[in-house]
Amino acid sequence: MSMVTEQFLRRAARIPHHGLGLSVDVYQPDLFDLAGELDRHGLAYGYLEIFKAVPAALESVRRRLANTLLSYHAEGLWVTQPNPERLSPFHAELDETAEQLKILGSHWLNHECAAKQMAGYAFGTYLPALFTAASAEVTAENIAKAQQRLDQGFAVRDRRAGLDDDGIAPLFLLETPPLTYVGFGDLNMAEFFRLVTDLTPCGVVLDIGHLWTVYRYTGEWRRRPLTAFLAEFLDAFPLERVVEIHMAGLAPHPSVPSHTQAADELPLWPPFWIDAHGAPIPDVLSDMLAQVLEHKGLTNLKGVALEVDTKPIPIIVEEFSRARERFGIQCSRFEVRSLKGEIQRRTSNVELRTSEMPRTPNLELAGQYNRYAQIVTGRAATGLPVLGQDASALPLYSEHYLPHEILEWGSAVREMFPETCRDLDRAGIALEGFVRFWFREPRDTDQAYDFFLLKIARFVEFIREVLPDSLVTAEQAAQALREGYQAACEQVGREPLTVKRGRNVSCESRITDNE
Ligand SMILES: [Fe+2]
Repeated sequence: MSMVTEQFLRRAARIPHHGLGLSVDVYQPDLFDLAGELDRHGLAYGYLEIFKAVPAALESVRRRLANTLLSYHAEGLWVTQPNPERLSPFHAELDETAEQLKILGSHWLNHECAAKQMAGYAFGTYLPALFTAASAEVTAENIAKAQQRLDQGFAVRDRRAGLDDDGIAPLFLLETPPLTYVGFGDLNMAEFFRLVTDLTPCGVVLDIGHLWTVYRYTGEWRRRPLTAFLAEFLDAFPLERVVEIHMAGLAPHPSVPSHTQAADELPLWPPFWIDAHGAPIPDVLSDMLAQVLEHKGLTNLKGVALEVDTKPIPIIVEEFSRARERFGIQCSRFEVRSLKGEIQRRTSNVELRTSEMPRTPNLELAGQYNRYAQIVTGRAATGLPVLGQDASALPLYSEHYLPHEILEWGSAVREMFPETCRDLDRAGIALEGFVRFWFREPRDTDQAYDFFLLKIARFVEFIREVLPDSLVTAEQAAQALREGYQAACEQVGREPLTVKRGRNVSCESRITDNE
């Protein structure tokens, strides 16, 4: 057994069985309302996984749900990127993560194998890692650094508290990311995760809906049935590292015109669904989960969570009730399996390919991420291998999803800057130019990622360039937005409903300016 495997098993053995639970946001829907409704329906849950929030909010959750096992969904750690400390204050983010883990008493933190910033470009939602060997090496190295930093933070705490504990922090779990219409690299997701886990003792979160998007957007659906794809995927994937499973909804994105479907080869199936936590869980995902849970390789699974942030409470109650009926027994079986000590490393019967992309130093990988950003923003056509050689849905991202992200998502620019936008209309300047401006060139930043604040700053820069006469108006509006946002964020521990929070934005605000 390799040292990496041993280290993983040592850490995994400390994690208790979590069972069937829910991955939630503190505010959307209101967590205490949700917990109350689940109690009212007699629906016991094994744990709640809480998305990153302000410490006061997490403390209130810890206090009010004193007997509930809580785990932590992290955000803002760009471990897939070369030199993540050049994209955001990586170490400060990790120290903040350690504090949040301590508040909740979580046994793990999970983070998407994806980033919202790459090569100096900022996006509103996650873009998956480049699936190459060099990228896997960088990702593994960054996770190792992150785990080390967290361990140091916990060791200091344990020493201060006079605890005998050995200062081992919660385990870093890397989550399989969704494809939003396309992915890049010359390895498939299973091969990529196998490489990462061979190099570092992290755990893994297997997200069932994300896996469906891989089947959909790598063209696998044209080649074989979903069950055959899934069976082969599970044989190649490092299943023995899977500590948690997620399942959420899928839905078409509102920015994508519905007639697009008719242009596809098989007009009615499969749909152009993407990951959507607020949408109902389609039956196809429950069937996939059933197939996954049957697999013997799943030897270290600790929890299965329905991801339900942004979903209406009555639907959550109904779906969780159904999940308990269908998967409750299987979820208790994996506890027995790990108690029996079936934790040996499973030997895969699938021969792994190696990446043909050159094993590059960080610098070259940074160049590839630069190309990645150019392709998805429509400024370059080629230059990277495409997963499954299928880029047929890429225009849905660059022509619909991305402009929506910049102009509408989080907060609509027209609502944030109504008077300035009216000035633009009067001057005959299309707001769509803001999207091109945003991605025109890479920019360095040492700021923690915050899409809302970034939107404000970039829009003022845009106005300075295209309509300087309206700069004062835009700056005044920007100042009001920042102040309102700051106040709302400070208030949030006491009055959570004043600010909407979501998985994809750090503090989405309903504040609009008073131009
Ligand atoms: Fe997930």
